[in-house]
Amino acid sequence: MEIKMRCRICSGRLEQVADFGRQPLSDAFREPAEQRAEFFFRLAVGVCGSCSMVQLMEEVPRERMFHDGYPYLSSGSSVMREHFAGFAQRVMSERSDPFVVELGCNDGVMLGNLARAGVRHLGVEPSGGVADRAAAQGVRVCKEFFESGVAERIRATDGPADVIYAANTLCHIPYIGSILRGVATLLGPDGVFVFEDPYLGDVVRLTSFDQIYDEHFFLFSAGSVQRMAAPYGLELVDVERLDVHGGEVRYTLAGKGAREQSAAVRDLLADEAAQGIATAAALRAFAGRAADNRDRLVALLTELRERGASVAGYGATAKSATVLNYCGIGPDLIPFIVDTTPAKQGRLTPGSHIPIRGPEAFRDPYPDYAVLFAWNHAAEIMAKEREFREAGGQWILYVPEVHVA
Ligand code: SAM
Ligand code: TMP
Ligand code: ZN
Repeated sequence: MEIKMRCRICSGRLEQVADFGRQPLSDAFREPAEQRAEFFFRLAVGVCGSCSMVQLMEEVPRERMFHDGYPYLSSGSSVMREHFAGFAQRVMSERSDPFVVELGCNDGVMLGNLARAGVRHLGVEPSGGVADRAAAQGVRVCKEFFESGVAERIRATDGPADVIYAANTLCHIPYIGSILRGVATLLGPDGVFVFEDPYLGDVVRLTSFDQIYDEHFFLFSAGSVQRMAAPYGLELVDVERLDVHGGEVRYTLAGKGAREQSAAVRDLLADEAAQGIATAAALRAFAGRAADNRDRLVALLTELRERGASVAGYGATAKSATVLNYCGIGPDLIPFIVDTTPAKQGRLTPGSHIPIRGPEAFRDPYPDYAVLFAWNHAAEIMAKEREFREAGGQWILYVPEVHVA
């Protein structure tokens, strides 16, 4: 048992349960001519013996990940655009004249809906390039890392928030105490903090080890979130399972005593306890399955190369960094990956240095096999690329296990 550091939530002892080795920054796509050495860190996962929060053992400084060149665009998926429009609709139907603050609003995929409807809002987004895209569609955005001081300033200038929202952002933030203090400061008495992130239960169930990378610092569960919220006077009042991004939970926190806890929270807590998802034993078993998937994926790609079959990757996701670097897969096994994100095209994947091309390269000509790194968008992509299968192409997936579809 290796004890490296203390829990970022409660300072309890962390037990290391998985090690995915030396990894680059998952979104640091390289110019082919770049000479500078890449930044690497050790991607290991620990679980807190006291509060059961699953978290990375090593932390990457936030400015290395979130900066003006941060490439990820939330609007790149039609399913996600609908998902966020649905959340905006729900807020507008449940509250009259609300003030909504979003942490990590990215290109404005959610707040754009509120801006167009004239709802009072503010996005807090430290990555300048994506924040500019949000501003270009009428979103009011400040280019900052949200933390307690920023929350005090927003409260002083704009008043209390009715809804604070964070999608795929809270789990990125190791200094979470400052965030929760800020949330408690900024929320009005009837306000709620709603956040959604990959769910530990789904990661363990699906062996989706690629949900673990530099930006995904925490893997939340209902139990760990409930314990995390309490010291800040916040309570977990609702949970909702989401099937986007490979399985997430939307958590709702409210001020202590402000709302009843829903039956869904009690059910999920009971389910987590019965399954023991956050136990070191379950997580070590998960790490063992991830290692099996790695070996099978490398064996399959090696066999395909030996047979002379052509292979491409689909979706230069942040998640793919963990797979490619953990498996030691480079351009010899996957010569290129296609992706719709302009800032990724023409670059190389971090660490593994696989060229990234635009989606038109996929059908020019279709490869025999395509590894679907954006498996969380499988329905959308397989529908869009129906002709690939019709032309005899086959998808390779590695979640929940390596298979050809
Ligand atoms: N909410 C969008 C979504 O779900 O598609 C974007 C998610 S993106 C993976 C994470 C975003 O969080 C990035 O745009 C990043 O710049 C932002 N972020 C990171 N730390 C933050 C902080 N302390 N406050 C606000 N945003 C932050
Ligand atoms: P995500 O899994 O973090 O949302 O990243 C998805 C990546 O896949 C992102 O780089 C955009 C890319 N992508 C495509 O190339 N085509 C698509 O149809 C979709 C939905 C995503
Ligand atoms: Zn802890």
